[in-house]
Amino acid sequence: MTIQVERIPRIIALANQVGGSGKSTSVVNLGAQLADFGLRVLIIDADDQCDASVALGYEYPDQIVDQKTIYHCLTEKSTKLSEAIVPALCGPFGAEDTKIIENLFLVLGSGEMENAEQHLTTTMGRELWLQNLIEPIKGDYDVILLDCPGSLGLVVIGAILASDEVVACIKPGYKELRGLTRIEQKIEMVRDTFGANGAHAELTGILLVDVPTHRSQGAVWDDGKKMAQETYGDLVLPAVRRSTKIPESYAHQKALLYFDRAGEATADYLAVAKRMGFKRRTNR
Ligand SMILES: Nc1ncnc2c1ncn2[C@@H]1O[C@H](COP(=O)(O)OP(=O)(O)OP(=O)(O)O)[C@@H](O)[C@H]1O
Ligand SMILES: [Mg+2]
Repeated sequence: MTIQVERIPRIIALANQVGGSGKSTSVVNLGAQLADFGLRVLIIDADDQCDASVALGYEYPDQIVDQKTIYHCLTEKSTKLSEAIVPALCGPFGAEDTKIIENLFLVLGSGEMENAEQHLTTTMGRELWLQNLIEPIKGDYDVILLDCPGSLGLVVIGAILASDEVVACIKPGYKELRGLTRIEQKIEMVRDTFGANGAHAELTGILLVDVPTHRSQGAVWDDGKKMAQETYGDLVLPAVRRSTKIPESYAHQKALLYFDRAGEATADYLAVAKRMGFKRRTNR
């Protein structure tokens, strides 16, 4: 007899209405780290820029013949989320030396998601779109990470509603920190309005990325962290230092763990994973 062990995933949205604040980078590298811990991880690429998909090997997700993407799942009633799930890759799709990353899976993004807001506006129960899609596959993963677009529109409201936790990514700075109040308000609004539908997400982390390490780069490492900690205390996660390896690893379509295993930013994402309470699985 086979005993099916049901997994209860932690569903975590990485969000910020500000573009370029490290959401996709963090989803990919945190996801790779958690998969390396032996956890089954699903990344959902909900952004029309498809950066998470590109970083995990899929440069042109819309062009893979007969492959469903998140957009099909959103717009076609008959398409299930499981149909859009592919293995995450280390290297470009189709290249000879590209490998599958064990335990890491991806719901492919789509450029067509630029029409998602328009589609959702005329859809009944629109805020529940992602929650409804995730429900049937929940038991298959330990962690589900949602890469949100840089807005607070219906796509992101759906992501917050589907989540247990929201981690806000920011680059350090006063303006960036002030912008966090908008996410906090949105999370509260989603909980208040959709509590009866199961909305219960909380802001559980502030992740500072691209943090300068030298005076010559402007404010130093500690300045940005201190400013964030004064307002958000323990919610502030270990920071991710500025590293040229991050844009380089994206260009090579390899997660940091495989591109620069001993690097500083790689170590920083490991520290983030640990602080978030994740541990290496020992009893597989
Ligand atoms: N620690 C870091 N060191 C150096 N560059 C970084 C770091 N973190 C992120 N970046 C760079 O910052 C840019 C924005 O990062 P990313 O794409 O992850 O942000 P995003 O929030 O997903 O953006 P968008 O809102 O456009 O989706 C990228 O070019 C990325 O390479
Ligand atoms: Mg992004």
